[in-house]
Amino acid sequence: MSTETIKYRRYEQNVEQPAADEQVVFDELSRTMQHITRTMASRYRHAYRPVHAKSHGVLLGTLEVVPGLPEELRQGLFAEARSYPIVLRFSTNPGDMLADNVSSPRGLALKVLGVDGEKVPNHGGKPTQDFVCINGSKFTAPDPAGFLKGIKQFDESLTLPEGVKHAVSVGARAANAVLKAVHLPSATLEGIGAAAVHPLGESFSTIAPVRFGDYIAKVGFAPGSENLKGLTGKSIDLGEDYNALELEIKKFFRHHGGTWDVKVQLALDEPGVDDKDRDFPIEKADKEWPEEKSPWQTVARIVVPQQDSYSDTRQLFVDEQLSFSPWHALVAHRPLGGIMRSRLKAYEEARKYRAQRNAREFVEPASADEVPA
Ligand code: HEM
Repeated sequence: MSTETIKYRRYEQNVEQPAADEQVVFDELSRTMQHITRTMASRYRHAYRPVHAKSHGVLLGTLEVVPGLPEELRQGLFAEARSYPIVLRFSTNPGDMLADNVSSPRGLALKVLGVDGEKVPNHGGKPTQDFVCINGSKFTAPDPAGFLKGIKQFDESLTLPEGVKHAVSVGARAANAVLKAVHLPSATLEGIGAAAVHPLGESFSTIAPVRFGDYIAKVGFAPGSENLKGLTGKSIDLGEDYNALELEIKKFFRHHGGTWDVKVQLALDEPGVDDKDRDFPIEKADKEWPEEKSPWQTVARIVVPQQDSYSDTRQLFVDEQLSFSPWHALVAHRPLGGIMRSRLKAYEEARKYRAQRNAREFVEPASADEVPA
């Protein structure tokens, strides 16, 4: 399809279709997350995030909006060709502090600082816009009820000995490599035994949609500079070092800077089609939007200079005094769909518990000067 014939879907207040009883599921999701974090807190005598507890890199950089964007991309944060300071946090999915050779999906959370403009009500007056992403293209469940089943199992698995998790992960990784070699990646093994590739070469996405000003989009981050592209799919030996990923990221940024492209995939207009039958649904987070119909388009560049990617002071600040949430957002980038709606309470409650348990004050920095070197 040529880009001239593409008609993008306009944002309207009724693009979402909330389920009648969904708040009950949201409350249960939030309670389960709390249970995970409290279980871990009793083990470690410290409260960590209930998922993505372990960080591997905490970086400072800038986001530079591309000048001369067409109207459909010149929206919200990307309306003006200017630059913003940003904080990046690389993480791994589990809520416990496993050794890095227990592989699982990676997270990338991005906080854009010094952002003016109207925010969603829970974030009113705050100077930040976050994007909270994983290295996948669709979510594990279509909706909050489906996710609740999975997260309950995860909660129950927390009491498994670490050795068992390690054995499952390594076994699953090997099995997955075999299946991939014959082009049959296994949905069940995907994730827990994900191949050990360099996290800096990965592409990340919000997976679920956000409002994109007058339109609707998913937002993603892909390696832009040749040195990061060179790490895409590169196997790394996670060996025996407990914090091998932290060391890999440190090794890179000690000598180099790198850039990522910030991309958006706009939803197409599908007049008269029910959400469940759409190619670009709002309420089905496990549906990958077809790239051949609406390609990812670059709206900005992230520039990260050479630096210490895990200094003690910055690691403490980012892990302990920042929280990243899709609901730290401009009205122009309001999260959309059931999975996104369920995250409002869960992230807020998780942050509150961490603040109280660890006696920490949380901050939303307006400038890079507030972030330790
Ligand atoms: C599109 C789907 C999702 C993605 C891409 C995603 C990704 C992430 C990432 C990367 C983090 C770590 C953020 C950081 O570095 O601070 C995180 C944290 C978290 N996620 Fe999600 N997540 C998703 C869905 C959910 C859902 C459905 C829930 C529950 C309703 C949830 C609950 C949480 C909580 C409670 C935290 C910890 C927040 C904190 O303690 O500050 N996530 N998620």
